[in-house]
Amino acid sequence: MRILAIETSCDETALAVVSTKGASFIVEKEILSSQIATHAKTGGVVPEVAARMHMETLIPLLMELGVPRDGERIDAIAVTAGPGLVVALRVGVETAKTLAHVWKKPLVAVNHLAGHLASAWIGDEKPTYPILSLLVSGGHTEIILSRALGNIEVLGSTRDDAAGEAFDKVAKLLGLGYPGGPEISMRAKAGRKDAFTLPRPMLDQDNFDFSFSGLKTAVRREVGKMKMENGKRERGSFQETDIDDMSASFQEAVVETLMTKMECAIDQVQPASMTLVGGVSANEALREAFASLAKRKGVACFIPERKYSTDNAVMIAVAGLMKLSRGETVDPLTLKADPHLELGSNAK
Ligand code: KG4
Ligand code: ZN
Repeated sequence: MRILAIETSCDETALAVVSTKGASFIVEKEILSSQIATHAKTGGVVPEVAARMHMETLIPLLMELGVPRDGERIDAIAVTAGPGLVVALRVGVETAKTLAHVWKKPLVAVNHLAGHLASAWIGDEKPTYPILSLLVSGGHTEIILSRALGNIEVLGSTRDDAAGEAFDKVAKLLGLGYPGGPEISMRAKAGRKDAFTLPRPMLDQDNFDFSFSGLKTAVRREVGKMKMENGKRERGSFQETDIDDMSASFQEAVVETLMTKMECAIDQVQPASMTLVGGVSANEALREAFASLAKRKGVACFIPERKYSTDNAVMIAVAGLMKLSRGETVDPLTLKADPHLELGSNAK
């Protein structure tokens, strides 16, 4: 079985061709065109701009990928149907519907979050059930229990900002570029993680939910104080070392909060495997902390390669192949992008 996958939910136009060989997934072709340089100029993603760029790049990328124009050797098409930016999603969805209709191939609608979860299956070693996943991206922070393929339960999620959103907003407060996650993790390397005392939100509560907006407010307060103190020397500016120190302190607060909740969830669920997925899992400090927590708890640990942590089409292909194996296809004439699609709903 060979699937063509399309991902356009946010600011990456991505395509992949993935096939199955026994229980393995073979990544035959993958291509990704990032819009980050464009969105960096505006300090964030402007949905209409993202959609226009997806429209301009999708078909040329498909040709670059070398997919025959008649879809020969492609058995099915998978597309991200949500959640995400609706105008961006629609570009991928409408393209996939058209290809499926013209090529007469089955169409599979994939939930972007199910795609992130599936990224843990890309490598040779596969997680075994029950699986406890920490999904941390620009829009989501969730602890998810998968009991079997397609049988999932969200144990906890963020009440306000997602982890990636917090990284992006704090980076802005510190005058760093977009996206903030990579910038902060780079600056944190030179900083002291105990330089600032920042809160660890909701750790006292007996649940698996998160809240990162209070942490961002605490950073804003500290940044205000720093600016005032430094203003005595140089009006309203930071010292470079302040930025490094705040980056390290903030990152440490996020990692510690995520790991504490994750540890409670492991104790309760006793999973066979644990997976770390989503854009924020490209963060080195988080990857190390997650791997060492897994080791301490004796749970098998799966963290995809960095390029499969952030948005990509290979994960959508793998999730699509899993759905296809269960016969879960959709009608190319009626599929609609759903910006608020939830895990566990139609596009699992
Ligand atoms: O999964 P993703 O690529 O897109 C969404 O589905 O949202 O995640 C993007 C998020 C952004 O907020 C970005 O700042 C964050 O992942 N991110 C990171 C790192 N690389 C990307 N956060 C922390 N450290 C990183 N190295
Ligand atoms: Zn994502």
